[in-house]
Amino acid sequence: MSEPKRIAVTGAAGQICYSMLFRIANGDIYGPDQPVSLQLLEITPALGLLEAVKMELDDCAFPLLHDVVCTDDPKVALTDVDAALFVGAKPRGPGMERKDLISDNGKIFSSLGQILNEVGSPECKVVVVGNPANTNAYILKANAPNINPRNITALTRLDHNRAISQLAAKTDAKVSDITKMVIWGNHSTTQVPDITWATVDGKAATDLVDTAWAHDTFIPTVAKRGAAVIDARGSSSAASAANGVVDHMASWVQGTPDGDWVSMAVPSDGSYGIEEGLIYSFPVTCKDGDYTIIDDLTVTDAMKEKMLASQAELHEERDTVKDLLS
Ligand code: NAD
Ligand code: LMR
Repeated sequence: MSEPKRIAVTGAAGQICYSMLFRIANGDIYGPDQPVSLQLLEITPALGLLEAVKMELDDCAFPLLHDVVCTDDPKVALTDVDAALFVGAKPRGPGMERKDLISDNGKIFSSLGQILNEVGSPECKVVVVGNPANTNAYILKANAPNINPRNITALTRLDHNRAISQLAAKTDAKVSDITKMVIWGNHSTTQVPDITWATVDGKAATDLVDTAWAHDTFIPTVAKRGAAVIDARGSSSAASAANGVVDHMASWVQGTPDGDWVSMAVPSDGSYGIEEGLIYSFPVTCKDGDYTIIDDLTVTDAMKEKMLASQAELHEERDTVKDLLS
């Protein structure tokens, strides 16, 4: 067995982590032959609850779980990690947009970014989950210049999975029959779920559903699914978010299947006219622990307009956190 991979997780006593940590300890990110160590961060008042989570992790006797550290010291949690999953942040409630969280949550990511910059390994893989995820990742990147900026990403895999599920239901297909889904942009209601290249059991999705459904039902259903879950559940998605994080990391580490891709919010390389460095969701393939943005798709004018509107929202969010971009 190889040396354990060290994974930092923030907000580890919260709702998402209560589903996610057990999946990670089971080997769902790094695979069945790779031991993992968990470095779990919480705020001081939640340390008691975090100890209870550790008790349950222990009680699972996961063969791949090497050790678990519980701490309220970000330096301890973030030192020398191979991956850092930034979940800890306030969730929104009914009637709020994710960007309404920015004044409370943005400062968490400037401060943790500075600490990651000091103690983190330059090649550690980062995914930001706490909302608004793209802008929080942008803040973290600005505060952590020692970390490879390519490795600072945000979660849109939950949206990608939601989109696959909606298309499968509409076409009476299995989710495993769907390939080449795309989520462009911000993890917000301006995101652009796009079936232009999607296939359903090898057939073009655009031949199976009409354009009106794709634009007037599919896009808003996926983009507003987070709010629908909050309305139904009274609190934001947790198990499906945890699954999205595990999928995001597993694809990044283990690769994407031939002939398919996934959506990840990553620093733009300027593709599709999106400002370089902005954390924006693109279709990517992953191989050998790295990702490549698919940069040669032909997008329609209508989609391009929506993609630019999502970029404009990211610019607005960035303007509100100027003081955190040290
Ligand atoms: P939660 O309130 O259940 O848990 C958050 C945890 O973070 C709490 O235990 C809290 O004590 C901890 N925390 C707060 N500040 C911290 C800090 N500075 N350092 C370490 N820990 C800290 O919330 P949740 O349901 O787990 O959601 C967490 C975040 O994820 C929210 O912002 C939510 O909106 C977001 N989210 C994002 C997606 C996505 O797809 N990107 C999906 C679901 C939820
Ligand atoms: C989601 O998409 O479910 C999360 O971002 C939580 C939320 O606030 O919608």
